Amino acid sequence: MMITVWKLSLVHLSIVFSFSCCFCNHVTVEDYSDIPVIAKYFTTKGRYEEVNPYLIADILAVNTSTLRPPSAQCRQIHLTAIIRHGTRYPTTKNVKKMRKLYEHVQRNASGEESWLRELQTQWRMWYTDDMDGRLVQKGVDDHRHLAMRLSKLFPSLISEQNLRGGLIKFITSSKHRCVNSTLAFKSGLTELWNIQDQEFDHAENDALMRFFDHCSKFVEDVDNNPSALSEVDNFKKGPEMERVQQKIADRLRVPYNTITDDMAEAAFYLCAYEFAIKTVNSPWCQLFDEVDAQVLEYANDLKQFWKRAYGYDINSKSSCILFHDLFARLDKAVNEIKSDQQVSEVVTVQVGHAETLLPLLTLLGFFKDNDALTSKNYATQTQRSFRTSRMLPYAANLLLVLYDCGAGDLRLQPLLNEHSVTFPGLTGQQDSMPLYQDVKEHYKDLLGGCDFETECKLFD
Ligand SMILES: *[C@@H]1O[C@H](CO)[C@@H](O)[C@H](O)[C@H]1NC(C)=O
Ligand SMILES: *[C@@H]1O[C@H](CO)[C@@H](O)[C@H](O)[C@H]1NC(C)=O
Ligand SMILES: *[C@@H]1O[C@H](CO)[C@@H](O)[C@H](O)[C@H]1NC(C)=O
Repeated sequence: MMITVWKLSLVHLSIVFSFSCCFCNHVTVEDYSDIPVIAKYFTTKGRYEEVNPYLIADILAVNTSTLRPPSAQCRQIHLTAIIRHGTRYPTTKNVKKMRKLYEHVQRNASGEESWLRELQTQWRMWYTDDMDGRLVQKGVDDHRHLAMRLSKLFPSLISEQNLRGGLIKFITSSKHRCVNSTLAFKSGLTELWNIQDQEFDHAENDALMRFFDHCSKFVEDVDNNPSALSEVDNFKKGPEMERVQQKIADRLRVPYNTITDDMAEAAFYLCAYEFAIKTVNSPWCQLFDEVDAQVLEYANDLKQFWKRAYGYDINSKSSCILFHDLFARLDKAVNEIKSDQQVSEVVTVQVGHAETLLPLLTLLGFFKDNDALTSKNYATQTQRSFRTSRMLPYAANLLLVLYDCGAGDLRLQPLLNEHSVTFPGLTGQQDSMPLYQDVKEHYKDLLGGCDFETECKLFD
């Protein structure tokens, strides 16, 4: 069933595309009619393809010009990839909210619009409680394809020989969606090289990939502390959200007070999940215009900001363990190179959650705006860099690539979602590929401190 839908939509896509190509010269690949206009605001429920639209035409396309080593003699020597799991089903909690909205629409909405009739007579509430955030087939494909693309971007690192030789290490969170993503990543490589005579292990490591559960101070002060998210609650009760709820009520012709902020969110996620999982532009998307989507995007960015990012210092500090693990791997590769040894761990693939990546990105200083996101400054934050839709779609990934450019010149390039990024505040001539020693100098306070046990203990 899922495969049929996917194939049909591909056929549909290619018809749209060839039609466009025949009759106009300036169409871009983003002009596919079955992509909801609001798809770029889906925050952590967004498709990876929205961040890299060139993948819609060719899911295995890579842009090698994003890697710009300073000289031709630079060679890739190590890659650490920290990757979020692929596309998944909604969690039980969200399924319950969706069902409540669906029942309301079924019983109480009225109107003649075709999308509304479709919602009432054809659309079925097919999400069930037992789906519980499991990886979907699209999520398997997200990781298979990512593995294949990364092997094209880093052919000397992600190679058959290195995989067979045990030089590629896999570490994952124990959550089923992460384990399945890891299996999918490996299957992308074994398919690519048609490997049938050998299997490759992975290690489950929650201390590393789900550090947030193990950091008592974070659990107590933020995760289990309702008042920690007061900005989010205030925004949800504020005028921007109220307007969104009223517009939804108007479109459904139901009383204003029957559409809660939870229902507005559930409708938004229904549109997002139908698209991410089945690649369909569902009638739920008709409940929103772009302005509404930007408000709901802000509501979730606000939540991520206070729960996982700059809102509280402990959010990023909870990732100290992953930060040190990363630099320990890089140091090890550097020391091996310096002493003319073979690099023993050429690639590390680490699979976790949005909640794994965001604290680490925050610790490293990425996407920090001048002002905090609050319930009151929606209007002045429209140009913010902190946009989870761009940062954390399904299969989001932070790549750290180490280069040996000869004569002790070692470089480190960070990439986020296959785009070159620069370490914030680290300026110099080779911004996108600084010297490894300059990166270490830049983060020296964290490298010398940021001790997980100390940061996470409840009382000093
Ligand atoms: C490829 O990367 C280069 C450098 O980052 C960029 O200028 C270019 O637009 C990218 N091409 C595509 C198709 O995204
Ligand atoms: C239908 O609307 C009424 C209020 O107008 C509400 O009490 C009831 O819960 C709604 N039905 C559903 C299934 O949500
Ligand atoms: C994920 O793995 C479980 C077993 O660990 C399996 O039952 C399930 O079918 C897998 N799901 C996908 C989408 O591969």
